[in-house]
Amino acid sequence: MKAAQDPEIFKNFKHYEIYRRVVECNNWYSVGIQYFNVLKGQSPDFVHLVDQFRENDMIGNPVTQKYPEIGRFSAASLRYIKVAYDLGRMFGNLNKLNMVEIGGGYGGLGKMIQVMGSYASYTLIDLPPALELAKKYVEAAGLPNVSFIACDQLDQLKDHHYDLLVSNYAFSEINIAEQKEYISKLIDNVPNGYITFNFIAPNYGVNTLSVEDFAKALESKSRVVSIQPEVPQLGKRNVILTWTTP
Ligand SMILES: C[S@@+](CC[C@H](N)C(=O)[O-])C[C@H]1O[C@@H](n2cnc3c(N)ncnc32)[C@H](O)[C@@H]1O
Repeated sequence: MKAAQDPEIFKNFKHYEIYRRVVECNNWYSVGIQYFNVLKGQSPDFVHLVDQFRENDMIGNPVTQKYPEIGRFSAASLRYIKVAYDLGRMFGNLNKLNMVEIGGGYGGLGKMIQVMGSYASYTLIDLPPALELAKKYVEAAGLPNVSFIACDQLDQLKDHHYDLLVSNYAFSEINIAEQKEYISKLIDNVPNGYITFNFIAPNYGVNTLSVEDFAKALESKSRVVSIQPEVPQLGKRNVILTWTTP
């Protein structure tokens, strides 16, 4: 990916149409204000940290809009902040957790978690070109303890222990064979998880596991699974599936 190699492109990588379509989709005020309202209702304390959260928008020149009380933000940053607070509410203090994210893009969610109180370690798994961009971002953002694993190198996972797995609009977009590889090489070994499922894969001819079949696979490993509608709902039928281990 050119953004990882060319400093001039990296400076503006969030502004490019191709990037916005793949990663910061729905980066509009009408979406951002819904995240702002959810955050105000569920996690009003987030306003105390807005200047640190906004540092994400200082890298890569994203499209931003002006929101009440907090000033200019990209809608994507507000979404990452909302997910970070979801994780804190559901799994408690994250700063002792070894976290792993499937399809984390450039790593913006990790940045928001670091601002909120951090993680013990953060591993990003993605396509090799996306990881090159993530490495540049992580360096620019000064994020500590971040590792990178390419999605075709999942055997590397067997030497690692993770406490919490996250995946937003990524695990749900990959084909069944790859999903099953993630389940056997990673997900089966991670006691807690948070996955946002969207349902756009069939539009690209990609056949994925149903949420119900995925939940059954987790339950067969004694996980306690919850499936809730995504709020705000970015896509028709989107759900957030979480699991814990009693
Ligand atoms: C729609 S983006 C979501 C990015 C990020 N999670 C977010 O919420 O903004 C999908 C991500 O999945 C990644 N991806 C595609 N195939 C993958 C695979 N087989 N394993 C891991 N990540 C993959 C893409 O490179 C991209 O970073």
